[in-house]
Amino acid sequence: MTFRAEHLLGIEPLHPAEITALLDLADTYAEQNRSGRKHTDVLAGLTQINMFFEASTRTQASFELAGQRLGADVMSMAMQASSIRKGETLIDTALTLNAMHPDLLVVRHPSSGAVDLLAQKVNCAVLNAGDGRHEHPTQALLDALTIRREKGRLHRLSIAICGDIAHSRVARSNILLLGKMENRVRLIGPPTLMPAGVAEFGVEVFDDMEEGLKDVDVVMMLRLQKERMDGGFIPSEREYYHRFGLDAEKLGAAKPDAIVMHPGPMNRGVEIDGTLADDINRSVIQEQVEMGVAVRMAAMDLLARNLRAKRGAEMVADAGA
Ligand code: NCD
Repeated sequence: MTFRAEHLLGIEPLHPAEITALLDLADTYAEQNRSGRKHTDVLAGLTQINMFFEASTRTQASFELAGQRLGADVMSMAMQASSIRKGETLIDTALTLNAMHPDLLVVRHPSSGAVDLLAQKVNCAVLNAGDGRHEHPTQALLDALTIRREKGRLHRLSIAICGDIAHSRVARSNILLLGKMENRVRLIGPPTLMPAGVAEFGVEVFDDMEEGLKDVDVVMMLRLQKERMDGGFIPSEREYYHRFGLDAEKLGAAKPDAIVMHPGPMNRGVEIDGTLADDINRSVIQEQVEMGVAVRMAAMDLLARNLRAKRGAEMVADAGA
């Protein structure tokens, strides 16, 4: 089975075989990115527009690089400075952009569901680069690729996702993806940072790191999303670090070869010990960033194929009409 989606709005609608197809292609791009010949022309003639309504460092940079390596014309809108500030609605912005005939639109937005809404209003492929607390599909895919390369498989692993689950789109997309691929997912964090209805996810929930980390293969740490909190979620950062911050001692409960992940940006000394984050024997944080470019190349390549096929079919239909 091939990748059939028209947009990449979330992990939820994806079939496990589509996830595998995307990761397989991303693996080839990872090799290409390490070689001297980083460029191809699979997106030549296509226009990619990045719209980030929320701050981003690695996600925006890697989408730009991914598009350039595939030969697209890439433009990033400075949304902070755009007419959004002047009160233009999301839909007006979308229609304006649509008039520029983009082929790939990469969108990050603070509201859950905003990217889906936009996808209904434009006629190009849309990639969700994070919408509110909802989804961040390319992050989950790059995490999955990193795990698969490190562990040699992406099924029957025990994976702990730790910290601020409630505010995290990264956690949500990862729970969905890892569940679809038949892994055992554990969530660890204070009850105040667990989302309502967490039981429906088919995960195990812990509020103690040592218990939750016991014998896991993968430890995925999350940033405390302070910008999404209105106070009262944690007693203090010091107390939080003491109970939930990952350090070598707490990691001792996991399997001896367990890997440590973090999507970035990190709060060193709040959710993770800085020395552990830099320990190349345990931490795969830099590999996650590297796989981010490869996964985004694969996602845009696959969506562009579907877009070309769809437009081709429309032209045939128009000619016949
Ligand atoms: C994440 C995000 O923006 O959702 N960062 C990222 O994309 N690498 C996680 C975060 O902000 O904590």
